[in-house]
Amino acid sequence: MRKNYATSLSEKDIGKEVQVAGWVNSRRDHGGIIFIDLRDVSGLVQLVCDPEYKKEPWEQSENIRDEFVVVAKGKVRARGEGLENPNLKTGKIEIIVDELEVCNSSLTMPFDINDENVNDEIKLKYRYLELRSKKHLDIFKLRHKVTMSVRKTLDEMNFLEIETPILNKSTPEGARDYIVPSRINNGSFYALPQSPQLFKQLLMVGGFDRYFQIAKCFRDEDLRSDRQPEFTQIDLELSFCDEETIMSITEQMLKNIFEVAGFNINPPFNQITYTDAIEYYGSDKPDMRYDLKMIDVDDIFSNCDNEIFSSIAADKTKNRIKALNVPNGDNLFSKRQMKGFEDYVKKFGASGLGYFQLKEDGLKGPLTKFFNDDDLKSIIDRVQMSVGDVVFFGAGEKKLVCDYMGRFRCYLADLMGLCDNDKLEFVWVRDFDMFEEVDGKIKALHHPFTMPKDIDETNIQNTKSIAYDIVLNGVELGGGSMRIHTKKMQEKVFELMNISKQESEEKFGFFTKALEYGTPPHGGIALGLDRLIMLLAKTNSLRDVIAFPKTQKAYCLLSDSPSEVSAEQLEECNITINKE
Ligand code: AMO
Repeated sequence: MRKNYATSLSEKDIGKEVQVAGWVNSRRDHGGIIFIDLRDVSGLVQLVCDPEYKKEPWEQSENIRDEFVVVAKGKVRARGEGLENPNLKTGKIEIIVDELEVCNSSLTMPFDINDENVNDEIKLKYRYLELRSKKHLDIFKLRHKVTMSVRKTLDEMNFLEIETPILNKSTPEGARDYIVPSRINNGSFYALPQSPQLFKQLLMVGGFDRYFQIAKCFRDEDLRSDRQPEFTQIDLELSFCDEETIMSITEQMLKNIFEVAGFNINPPFNQITYTDAIEYYGSDKPDMRYDLKMIDVDDIFSNCDNEIFSSIAADKTKNRIKALNVPNGDNLFSKRQMKGFEDYVKKFGASGLGYFQLKEDGLKGPLTKFFNDDDLKSIIDRVQMSVGDVVFFGAGEKKLVCDYMGRFRCYLADLMGLCDNDKLEFVWVRDFDMFEEVDGKIKALHHPFTMPKDIDETNIQNTKSIAYDIVLNGVELGGGSMRIHTKKMQEKVFELMNISKQESEEKFGFFTKALEYGTPPHGGIALGLDRLIMLLAKTNSLRDVIAFPKTQKAYCLLSDSPSEVSAEQLEECNITINKE
């Protein structure tokens, strides 16, 4: 039906007969002549239905409305003098229509497809209409280019693309599983994969050497703008490698991806240890587009006359006093804003937020009275203050202080306009802690299949792992690790996590068994494809880059799912619903 794409036409086609197909983007009646902007996947071209030229198509165009689907045959001609549209690729030409076929009509649009200010609910309900917007078309063309680039890069590096199962046994990645009842195995459930983690490791046991997959993952977790219940990973795993190889393959892949998206990036990227990331930036995904580094001042505060600060400073194993110097902050922030800053950090558990301003005649602020002159001078030197700067202090339990001061750092950067979207600051965060304590329980920070560095039996929380995350502009793009490849070490890690032999056998017996059959040393990484596209497309919601996304409540407004199933379906799976 289509012989030409709209934007393939230009002045060189003047006089030629063409046939285009698409949607009516807009229709204008100019004193008898009807102009239609026809839209297809390539863009727009103007059709002209002129009764003086041909009556039939003009008559048909009388009843055409926006978003009708049409096929038009006609001749390309130059637009009249002064009628050119410089904003359009085909702005110098138009098609004078000989034949017009209306393939389908359309109801009136529930919203203007190019209007970004329409309420989200209505856009998601009619997502297929929102997808007609130029913004979405561009995003999905970009997404396609990126996955093609990934496939090409990895193919050239001898990776095999292999699919792993969707109906799975649960693998723990820190979120809840989506579960699927089995009809044939009554009373049993599959779990949808949170990632292909164990299966990709088993592929290494299977001797495939280098695997990749553009993998669908499912996690039942609290949703945010950068989290969807169903998302896609660029997932890889390779044998006989070290973490440097995996990082360098990832860098090459990212370089190629960014190149197809029109950006030039220059790996190798900077690296920072997990410990330093937390100490300096209060986050395991530090935004490196700006400095605002947190500096320890515990030793200076330990001398001060304020009991609260000096007692916090006395125990550096548990506590921290962090300083954040904001250049020129004294001139930038109003009194009201300064008060608001304290309210901001209090939301994250801070008991207060101290500050000093450096004026011409020295440090000022409510806390200065607790310090002697030498210590005040030490503070100025330590955080390298200049006149006009403000330094903020957070004091208390280490994890808490690092967290709220880290958040405050990002909050300030946002306020000060330091988050430059034209900058691409990658950083590898590596040497993660192997374990963390959550509600009194020892858990794996990455996952329990990560290779520990040296297990510190006296305080297992000091144990580091061979794990790395790639972070771009404060967003965790991906994470991976070297894996445990012996049963003995895997059992040791389960034991340290207080997972009993019986539990580990039940949950992971199929996997630890495989470790006894000649498992090669191996490791891998997974990048969040949706997050990557979100950053490349410079949008701030994952919803924009997923064709059919879910709401914050994991609901699909388009198809109204999840939804109830029939009594027969429930009966077949031997499930009864407790309506209460
Ligand atoms: P991890 O859990 O860090 O690692 O996930 C890897 C990357 O996947 C993306 N991601 C998400 N994207 C959108 N919505 C979500 N809910 C979501 N959750 C995660 C992030 C993240 O960095 N199996 C390991 C990888 C490995 O060790 O090889 C894993 O899944 O960008």
